[in-house]
Amino acid sequence: MLLRLLSSASRAIAAKPHPPQTLAAAAVGATSTTRKLAAMAGNREAFRVAVGNTLERRLFYVPSFKIYGGVAGLYDYGPPGCAVKANVLAFWRQHFVLEEGMLEVDCPCVTPEVVLKASGHVEKFTDLMVKDEKTGSCYRADHLLKDFCKEKLENDNTLSPEKVEELNHILAVLDDLSAEQLGAKIKEYGIVAPDTKNLLSDPYPFNLMFQTSIGPSGLSAGYMRPETAQGIFVNFKDLYYYNGNKLPFAAAQIGQAFRNEISPRQGLLRVREFTLAEIEHFVDPEDKSHPKFSDVSDLEFLMFPREDQLTGRSATRLRLGEAVSEGTVNNETLGFFIGRVYLFLTQLGIDKDRLRFRQHLPNEMAHYAADCWDAEIECSYGWIECVGIADRSAYDLRAHSDKSGVPLEAHEKFAEPREVEKLVITPSKKELGLAFKGSQKMVLEALEAMGETEALGMKAALESKGDVEFKVCTLGKDVTIKRNMVSINMEKKKEHQRKFTPSVIEPSFGIGRIIYCLFEHCFYQRTGKTDDEQLNVFRFPPLVAPIKCTVFPLVKVEKFDVVAKKISKALTTAGISHIIDITGTSIGKRYARTDEIGVPLAITVDSTTSVTVRDRDSKDQIRVEVDEVALVVKEVTDGQSTWADIMWRYPAHTALATDEEEASET
Ligand code: ATP
Ligand code: GLY
Repeated sequence: MLLRLLSSASRAIAAKPHPPQTLAAAAVGATSTTRKLAAMAGNREAFRVAVGNTLERRLFYVPSFKIYGGVAGLYDYGPPGCAVKANVLAFWRQHFVLEEGMLEVDCPCVTPEVVLKASGHVEKFTDLMVKDEKTGSCYRADHLLKDFCKEKLENDNTLSPEKVEELNHILAVLDDLSAEQLGAKIKEYGIVAPDTKNLLSDPYPFNLMFQTSIGPSGLSAGYMRPETAQGIFVNFKDLYYYNGNKLPFAAAQIGQAFRNEISPRQGLLRVREFTLAEIEHFVDPEDKSHPKFSDVSDLEFLMFPREDQLTGRSATRLRLGEAVSEGTVNNETLGFFIGRVYLFLTQLGIDKDRLRFRQHLPNEMAHYAADCWDAEIECSYGWIECVGIADRSAYDLRAHSDKSGVPLEAHEKFAEPREVEKLVITPSKKELGLAFKGSQKMVLEALEAMGETEALGMKAALESKGDVEFKVCTLGKDVTIKRNMVSINMEKKKEHQRKFTPSVIEPSFGIGRIIYCLFEHCFYQRTGKTDDEQLNVFRFPPLVAPIKCTVFPLVKVEKFDVVAKKISKALTTAGISHIIDITGTSIGKRYARTDEIGVPLAITVDSTTSVTVRDRDSKDQIRVEVDEVALVVKEVTDGQSTWADIMWRYPAHTALATDEEEASET
């Protein structure tokens, strides 16, 4: 997003899918490295095609409205995709909402304009766009420039060292380029519309929100929410009360978000409607410690602090406790969430070596943000921001307080009253009325709203000169304030409590991006009977596997069908999702089919007293009594035991035919 380019008064929306620094660091002056990048890119492409074909063929997800040609950036999840998504969300609720005692809310997607004006989205939720001058097709200006630079760095071996440096520099500062600067570079490099090679317009801002109107009159403007967070902020007062007027507490929400992306690409990674899971953790700005930080402080994982990015180093393994105590991560609460996000993603099945936490560079953060880290996952498209974890200070609550007039604040009651010196501004209504007549109210409000420094400056000026010029924004001009119009004093007061606007720490999870990366991390191919036969496998952990178990009668005879039905009933009672495959296909073919949707265990009924249980990954089999098998499956799929634990307890079964042999038969 280019919000931060236009102003700091909006969400700090973060990293590009390929942080320029990574590529920059890799490519600086090294042609062998650039060649290596090109070779890797080829393999990545082939891998992506293999995963993508499997996902679509097995209906994990498909383009929406496909029979009408589809719509870019909109996808449907099919049965296994829905099941994986439901499992990811259930685990999210378990890991965050339940374990941390968060308050879950569910707010509407349709949001009135005033809310998104207060948050800054109406004015600034924009990306810079260019248009094909002949066809009118639209592109994101920064993406075109980025693609051009990357393509040159990866494929052009004739680049001079100076040119390499120049292109890397552009990638590094891409987020900071103004519309004019982007336009100038596009012209200088002769970048044209990718599809038609036509000339492009100058870049201009395009607001990404889908606009609508609420009600039939068309008079009440609204938008489809671009994030779920605002629903939580506007409910702060009630949630704080619900929580017994105590801080810290966190609210959470899972729901759809809508962004009219200019040129959606990369499948589920950049779509126009997606599921967000967001947490807003409200905390006293003067105390951002976290009572459970010690639970995560010993974790060690890849972190990519700002300094390392700027000096061209790569991400390194850091201990979270040290990253916080040394100040690399701003505070314990932020650190706590980084640790919890790491545990969440790795327990889902994300490869810990292809997960890193990248700190935002100063140019990526809004001025009010204290610190931001993105959980980035590496996939065939590069490093992708999947979770943004930001300390947004008090910005959002203040913005909604100002706009709605409802104070969104917390208070700390003192055990003993405290004596404090407070600035007291007392305007004289009578004198202001005489001097400013109809404008009196606006002058009065502006005087009362002065901060301490400004008020003390005015006091000094009034005492020395007798009058002072004072800017009243709502009037759009300066007025002259005289000594008799206002008294400004520091007074001693007893206070029983402190009022303050809480800071908010926000982990924001793009569920579709996480799921796509999980698909890639779990996918692999194993060789079948012949070397050129590749069998697809999703190595999903049982936690996320769309179906936990399949049941196959070995051959189609009634007595095996009866046993299969009995086992199915026991599995249902144990709450285990499963399917029975009674197709007459060979057993190997049936194993291959369930491996392809990532089912961890398969039960084959080959007798009426005991059955075989096969592990998807090792293809090892054990023999288990019919009456016991549902509980064995439950033990493994619930995560109480691993397959290795189970293997010790039951006799191994040597398969008559391996799945590869069988798979190639039909
Ligand atoms: P990007 O810079 O990639 O556009 P962003 O910085 O705008 O992303 P945020 O506003 O921080 O993203 O949104 C929170 C999360 O929502 C991101 O971490 C990402 O996982 C997800 N997300 C954002 N935009 C999209 C999209 N168009 N499609 C799918 N997921 C998205
Ligand atoms: N469990 C039967 C087989 O794999 O052949």
